[in-house]
Amino acid sequence: MDLSTTYLGLKLPHPLISGASPLTDDLDMVRRLEAAGAAAIVMNSLFEEQITLEDNAAQAQRDENQDSFAEAQSFFPQSTDFAYGPRAWLDQVARIKATVKVPVIASLNGTTATGWVRYARQIEEVGADALELNIYLLATRSQVDGRQIEDRVVEVAEAVRDSVHLPLAVKLSPFYSSLPNLVRRLDAVGVTAVVLFNRFLQPDIDIERLEVAPKLVLSTPSELLLRLRWLAILHGRTNMELSASGGAHTAEDVIKALMAGANTVQVVSALLKHGPEHIGVLRAGLEKWMVEHEYDSVRQMRGSMSLQRCPDPEAFERGNYAKVLKTWRPS
Ligand SMILES: Cc1cc2nc3c(=O)[nH]c(=O)nc-3n(C[C@H](O)[C@H](O)[C@H](O)COP(=O)(O)O)c2cc1C
Repeated sequence: MDLSTTYLGLKLPHPLISGASPLTDDLDMVRRLEAAGAAAIVMNSLFEEQITLEDNAAQAQRDENQDSFAEAQSFFPQSTDFAYGPRAWLDQVARIKATVKVPVIASLNGTTATGWVRYARQIEEVGADALELNIYLLATRSQVDGRQIEDRVVEVAEAVRDSVHLPLAVKLSPFYSSLPNLVRRLDAVGVTAVVLFNRFLQPDIDIERLEVAPKLVLSTPSELLLRLRWLAILHGRTNMELSASGGAHTAEDVIKALMAGANTVQVVSALLKHGPEHIGVLRAGLEKWMVEHEYDSVRQMRGSMSLQRCPDPEAFERGNYAKVLKTWRPS
């Protein structure tokens, strides 16, 4: 049985990767991920805000102007919000590389090219095998149109692309008018892979305290469906590698993502819930299912249910939409 796949210039033994999460803050967790057979490990992101904080602190020291620093600081997350600052984060990448053999994909998370480019080079120096860029851009001003947002995504990706030799993945949100067009533009500036998708933080409202409460809930398998649709649409229409992120909890979820067109499947919530060992459970489940259904390789399975190859392409397009709504009956 050949479970191997390629991703970001890496030949991986199988498609299961641990996605960006706090699991990499702890070396013991990283060792457990390796022991469980993770094909690659994505680092917890270095956030642009961490770099901004450090730059502000350095600037304040230079200016000896602590008041303006204190004011600037109040707009940003405090350094205590992060497990560590950028230098310690780089040290952690180096430490992980020294501890495990499994490929390490560094991750940057932000909205502009500022500051990152400097760290992108250092990430290369500390030995990361590839880089994932999570461009978390939220349009809140009506003056900014969709094209400007997409231009920014492409500009940031291009700036980082130009500053490193590492293969680059961009983790996208699903909220673009034409995802295939954006993916094509990212391909044109030399991005190797797209990760589908980022999950935006969805703040809740505390109606008693009249506060907005940022809330991070772990995913459920229902979130996979959005990924399946876009993987299926993109597979075969782009040369880019596709990585699924969001809603993969069981071996069946992994199989679906591969059939839709994923090169790799990233898992976070299921690992936080069941422990790093769950990645071994998923891998074993994938292999068992493939044996039972007489598949020889992941390659054979990949994209077999994509828009181009599935028996009913309409199911991924508008075609089925009206039919499904109109034929719905209470169960
Ligand atoms: C606690 C937690 C921390 C996360 N940290 C990051 C991060 O630093 N960078 C990032 O790009 N995504 C981060 N994510 C998002 C995950 O990488 C992943 O895209 C998302 O959880 C969907 O995958 P899942 O359904 O397997 O959880 C985080 C998710 C969780 C639950």
